[in-house]
Amino acid sequence: MADPQSSAASPLKVVFVGHVDHGKSTLIGRILHDTGSLPEGKIEDIKKACAAEGMEFEFAFLLDALIEEQKQNVTIDTTQIPFRTARARYAIIDAPGHKEFLKNMITGASSADAAILVIGANEGVREQSRRHAYLLGLLGIKQIIVVVNKMDLVDFSEARFHEIESDYRKFLVDLGLEASAFIPASAKQGENVARATMKMKWYCGASVLEALDLLQPQKPDVDLPLRFCVQDVYRFDVRRIIAGRIETGTLRVGDQLVFSPANKSSVVASIERWNALATSPAVAGDSVGITLSEQIFVERGYVASHENETPIETNRFHADLFWIVREPLRLGHLYNLRLATQDLKCQVVSIEEVMDSSTLETKNDGREQLERNEIGKLTIQTRGPLVIDNHDRIPNLGRFVIVDDGEICGGGTIFGGVYTDRQVTKSQNIFWTEGKITAQQRAMRSGHRGAVVWLTGLSGAGKSTIAQALERELFHRAMYTYVLDGDNVRHGLNSNLGFSPDDRLENIRRVSEVAKLMADAGTVVITAFISPYRMDRRRAREIALEGNAEFIEVFVDAPLEVCETRDPKNLYKKARAGEIRDFTGIDAPYEAPEDPEIVVRTDEQTVDESVATIMEQLLPRLREYEANE
Ligand code: ADX
Repeated sequence: MADPQSSAASPLKVVFVGHVDHGKSTLIGRILHDTGSLPEGKIEDIKKACAAEGMEFEFAFLLDALIEEQKQNVTIDTTQIPFRTARARYAIIDAPGHKEFLKNMITGASSADAAILVIGANEGVREQSRRHAYLLGLLGIKQIIVVVNKMDLVDFSEARFHEIESDYRKFLVDLGLEASAFIPASAKQGENVARATMKMKWYCGASVLEALDLLQPQKPDVDLPLRFCVQDVYRFDVRRIIAGRIETGTLRVGDQLVFSPANKSSVVASIERWNALATSPAVAGDSVGITLSEQIFVERGYVASHENETPIETNRFHADLFWIVREPLRLGHLYNLRLATQDLKCQVVSIEEVMDSSTLETKNDGREQLERNEIGKLTIQTRGPLVIDNHDRIPNLGRFVIVDDGEICGGGTIFGGVYTDRQVTKSQNIFWTEGKITAQQRAMRSGHRGAVVWLTGLSGAGKSTIAQALERELFHRAMYTYVLDGDNVRHGLNSNLGFSPDDRLENIRRVSEVAKLMADAGTVVITAFISPYRMDRRRAREIALEGNAEFIEVFVDAPLEVCETRDPKNLYKKARAGEIRDFTGIDAPYEAPEDPEIVVRTDEQTVDESVATIMEQLLPRLREYEANE
């Protein structure tokens, strides 16, 4: 029960949500009126204004008027409207839409203690009623009161109420939520809001205010592992005050902290704040400044934890993402990801499953987009290390929003991340270590290893076309990739080489060395060279293997006649006419690969099919880095 005595304690925050026209504003107006929370003369003013316009008075106007007034008065928090019952103080958080909801989530207003979900008895459970419930789960609001409003429009029918109740209860259960009360009411007539109803004698549960008075303030998460999220660092002479918010756990002077992602440790020398003793611990929900005994580099976005309970640090993770804007989410598009005080560029690299947020139906149709109001199970990759927790372990560090061009487009929760003991296995998830950066560390960051995909085949067989299509495919998956193409390389690096066997050998040798370096840097290098000699290709493979790079030979095969009819650069014609010499396939040999990893037949397969054939073999190999070390 909310403590009636503690008027000094902060009010219980209740977020009100509901489908358009289901009477949310009327309910808020009615509560404010019936609890005597309105300023003197307010009702009369509005009634007069309505009369002047020839309109009937409605309680919903009260809320509009209050919000309007608050907007003018900058000193008042526009999102919170206070009221009190005989027992406790409350603040109404009005969340008009999904976007406001998600904004609350990152500004800390998400710390609502409870939610009232309004459903119109006449229309019943609607899409938005369902989506709102999903969002409540996302925000971690566990106390939910469902008000079935407008009972006057259904003749206060018990059957109708129970129909809605059982329908919605089932939906909530599917989401892992449970309502603390289902209340039939008529906000318009004041039935079951502040006073018990006379018109629904079949109902003997609590009224809306009674149900509110039974709620508990949401407990701050002091027992969870410490997560102190750095907002800013202030410098005073040599002293640094690290300001931030304790999302979960407890922080004491003398604690040894680890700052992620840099993984540097230091001891808390002091806790600086206005309204508490310096020696008392700071707990979840507190915004404090701390000083450290040893100066280490820390900046906004860092997360401090205790050594034995560190968060996950990664640049790739799985999440459920709820998409709320018209413009669909696209694979590979660069978004911003905000999580606590972190803000990083990110891309969605794959969508594993899509769920309709209203029907909860799932589809697994290999989609590359996520439409509005869909929830996607997906893999996200960030540009740089991100500090996270699984949502079911530490909700505050397990939820995030996706921002495009400054606009919030979706909110999500993280699951399936693997916690590692940093003391024991330093290599997992972490790439900020001392010394030379290894291929493994590069792969951990990008999510794939480097490799050389060697395309060989006649001029006109389609090497460049396939190379570019393959490059696009990898790029969209947020992979590092680059095409080395004969025609281009011969303009620069190899501009001093012709087409004699020796020159071709040197051409391929240089390209092999460049490809090896790029693969070592973590890139998937796609080479498109005729490379007609088996010996030269074997050497290319050896060079790649010397650099520990994966080498995949792809024979881009098409019969000479087909290449000659294609003749994209008119070179076959010239060669036949004797205008160019040593032309592969005409007066110079092409030695087809005897045992290539992959063969694509460009006279039989489309470009997309060829790319798919290559991707099938390539992707698993690129992801093999984890097992290798
Ligand atoms: S390779 O044999 O040394 O691997 P590379 O792939 O670099 O050849 O260059 C082939 C490209 O050079 C062809 O696509 C074509 O546009 C051009 N070219 C010009 N002369 C010749 C020639 N005599 N033989 C083959 N390609 C030539």
